[in-house]
Amino acid sequence: RERVVSGVQPTGSIHLGNYLGAIKNWVALQDTYETLFIVVDDHATTQPYDPQQLRKATRDTAALYLACGVDISKSSVFVQSHVPAHMELMWLLSSSTPIGWLQKMTQFKEKSRKEGAENAAVSLFTYPVLMASDILLYQAEYVPVGEDQKQHLELTRDLAQRVNHLYGGRKWKKLGGRGGSLFKIPEPLIPPVGARVMSLTDGLSKMSKSAPSDQSRINLLDSKDLIADKIKRCKTDSFAGLEFDNAERPECNNLLSVYQIVSGKTKEEVMEECKDMSWGTFKPLLADALIEHLSPVQVRYQEITAETGYLDKVLSEGADRATEIAVPTVRNLRQAMGFLILD
Ligand code: TYM
Repeated sequence: RERVVSGVQPTGSIHLGNYLGAIKNWVALQDTYETLFIVVDDHATTQPYDPQQLRKATRDTAALYLACGVDISKSSVFVQSHVPAHMELMWLLSSSTPIGWLQKMTQFKEKSRKEGAENAAVSLFTYPVLMASDILLYQAEYVPVGEDQKQHLELTRDLAQRVNHLYGGRKWKKLGGRGGSLFKIPEPLIPPVGARVMSLTDGLSKMSKSAPSDQSRINLLDSKDLIADKIKRCKTDSFAGLEFDNAERPECNNLLSVYQIVSGKTKEEVMEECKDMSWGTFKPLLADALIEHLSPVQVRYQEITAETGYLDKVLSEGADRATEIAVPTVRNLRQAMGFLILD
């Protein structure tokens, strides 16, 4: 079966953007593809973080995958650091990655702005290569992500092509390999709505885990009262009525899009329902739809985390399955790169 791979960093709390841009879409793919969902903890160390929080954030992130509908009878859920092949492949791929490719990554520029590129960690700079190895290790065909990961996916595709060209085909065959491509070229799956959920306090910047104000995002585990309060206080505008796709009304487009997804309605239905509404009428409607959509996720999260040992067992089985796929990938590449492999 064709494979799908994706992951979320266990940094801060998972928010509505992570859910609508990525996790919610993973669920729909489980019946058609072999799906692997990774808690990418090694990525979480690329920026200053609190070691006291990482374990908990790692378990919480995995628990939220399941709570959102990832079904372990269909999908493998595991922690990146439990499958050391990610690191190994990253090193091998690094040797085929021109520095110039990494210098073009807009996320590095954004994330290193605060401390300055000189002071940012080397791992923040090389992180897209680790992300490429997360994907290429499993020979994934599709990678469901939000809009902000598009550039990293392009780099992953370029890198796969480059390695196939440098080491694959006849050259690999001469070294005793099967020949042909070493890596599949993966494609991003970016949802038509929800790929870029914006901040509640500024419709021009995206909702993010690291924004200082918690008012700017809805976390998946926020209480009902907190969700209602955040929506009540979120930024709006003073135009009459509500509409999609007006560049002067980024907040309006964002909130309507969120409502569209969580209510399960079509864009046309939402337009018809909301076009004459005031913010005062729409906000409680949106808050209720969000609460109704997230409540079952929160209930399942409580159930999953209440059962001691359950989650760790899931993660251990997931890592076993991932390792089965990952080990031959690395072995093939090492063979094609000319390493001495002992039997
Ligand atoms: P991360 O942890 O920042 O985000 C996880 C997923 O959530 C999406 N996302 C959003 N979608 C819509 N609106 C938003 N405001 C929003 N914010 C985040 C992201 O696009 C992502 O899909 N590098 C990745 C993690 C990663 C990965 C991978 C993903 C590492 N290896 C391999 C796929 C495959 C990241 O930092 O995502």
